[in-house]
Amino acid sequence: MTTVLLLGSGGREHALGRALVADPSVQLHAAPGNPGLAGIGTLHAVDPSDPAAVVALARRVGADLVVVGPEAPLVAGVADAVREAGIDCFGPSAAAAELEGSKAFAKDVMRAAGVPTASARVCATPGEAAAALDAYGPPYVVKNDGLAAGKGVVVTPDRAAALAHAEACGKVVIEEFLDGPELSLFAICDGVTAVPLLPAQDFKRVGDGDAGPNTGGMGAYCPLPWAPDGLVEEVMTQVIDPTLAEMRRRGTPFSGLLYAGLALTGRGVRVVEFNVRFGDPETQAVLALLETPLAGVLRAAARGELAGLPPLRWRDGAAVVVVEAARGYPGTPVGGGNIELPADTDRAWTVHAGTATIDGRLVASGGRVLGIVGLGEDLEQARGRAYDHLSRVNFPDGFHRTDIGIPH
Ligand code: AMP
Ligand code: GLY
Repeated sequence: MTTVLLLGSGGREHALGRALVADPSVQLHAAPGNPGLAGIGTLHAVDPSDPAAVVALARRVGADLVVVGPEAPLVAGVADAVREAGIDCFGPSAAAAELEGSKAFAKDVMRAAGVPTASARVCATPGEAAAALDAYGPPYVVKNDGLAAGKGVVVTPDRAAALAHAEACGKVVIEEFLDGPELSLFAICDGVTAVPLLPAQDFKRVGDGDAGPNTGGMGAYCPLPWAPDGLVEEVMTQVIDPTLAEMRRRGTPFSGLLYAGLALTGRGVRVVEFNVRFGDPETQAVLALLETPLAGVLRAAARGELAGLPPLRWRDGAAVVVVEAARGYPGTPVGGGNIELPADTDRAWTVHAGTATIDGRLVASGGRVLGIVGLGEDLEQARGRAYDHLSRVNFPDGFHRTDIGIPH
């Protein structure tokens, strides 16, 4: 028996939970979890960003492994506290989580490691921001330096809007615009060794055809039929391995999930951003195709034993996840709307992302409310199954993109 404590409450965590309990020897606990996780594990009303509370809970349930889902607990030092308590933890230290916690830090690591990325300037005043905008020219890319749940980035041809975002944020990173398709590659890392998962593509803008503001992600699919041969190997040698080496050199080795957000530009692959946790919703599609039991892989990473692991096994075919969001998202979403779900099948199922149960009723409690996953022999079939399943979801307050799974 392996007892796993999973931290977080979103769609990523429900997808992680499903993949963890696919191994019948896993007993799952989640804090705080969500109604989807309630069906496969025991929930605990504990703040996942409170290091002392998490350690106490891990001891109480006898956790062999703590898996940290979101970035906030990592930046708050939860993984450090769990490891200091002598419990295996999947997730980087607070120092290593700065790769996501500060865009300026990530740029500095990439520069030192020779990782290809957009050239950028860190700006702390409106004057510096204006000078950087004029140096790079339109379209303008302005990023809040700190954590912003995927919503701190403005990409716009409008100089006044770019400058206004910089002034609203304070410290920003302003950078060169990268063109070309984007993809997400996740690497499971143990400080030294990295194992890539299948590459996925996220749909970041809220509307069909990539219209409207950026969101945390409105859907995803994997694998990528258009990816050039050798892409994953190239990203491992040019991006992931040098980043791990640089983090070791700094005395803050990276153990956990390193998420490389990449653009395939005309001049080669470039890093758009690093995250230090599984991406959401991409994880919902990627883990749908993973055959190797996840718990053993994450535990090997936590223990520094990835080099001894056999290669990961994947199902053939493709997976698509379509996000059903609450009206208003990515602004203030309408909360409390009733949700009725069709039964899951082994080809299409619902992931809970922002739901709650009130008096036995399932209701919306977040911006991204559900992820509908479809599996198929190819992208077209997976996409058809996801949208077919979604057509049977009853959630009057919801909306979704209709073009998820069409490569862009
Ligand atoms: P980030 O939070 O850094 O991933 O940025 C969110 C989204 O903004 C990315 O997924 C891209 O679509 C877009 N973006 C960020 N940086 C750039 C860039 N340098 N050039 C073009 N688009 C970008
Ligand atoms: N889907 C993008 C992210 O998880 O940051």
